[in-house]
Amino acid sequence: MDESPKGKKCKGMEGLITEGSEMIEEDPGNEELDAGLISAAQRVEHYEIAGYGCVRTYARLLGEEDAVSLLEQTLEEEKEADQKLTSLAEQINLQAGDSDDDEEEDGDRRAVKVSSGPQRGKAGKGRNR
Ligand SMILES: [Fe+2]
Repeated sequence: MDESPKGKKCKGMEGLITEGSEMIEEDPGNEELDAGLISAAQRVEHYEIAGYGCVRTYARLLGEEDAVSLLEQTLEEEKEADQKLTSLAEQINLQAGDSDDDEEEDGDRRAVKVSSGPQRGKAGKGRNR
């Protein structure tokens, strides 16, 4: 489009990365950390899906079909990454839950399982289309 893109710090993404860092600092068990980091990575993917979906729509409204095609390609890659993370979460959250069995609170295990539930198979569907 013969424009020079300029960088701008993304506070939303910065916050998501901070959340992931805080999970590491809390020093949970290995399985719990994996589950938490996968959920953090999925938040990042969903943020990216929203961003690419929006600019893809802008490009479509502007009649920039080449940009639409490229943005849709990237959007699909982000969705695939999210699906891979969902597949991992389905395995790892069960392991994290199992490793909690000997510990004191069921509430912790439920929180880990819930962390990936709402994203399962729904990444970006029905939005920004
Ligand atoms: Fe991504």
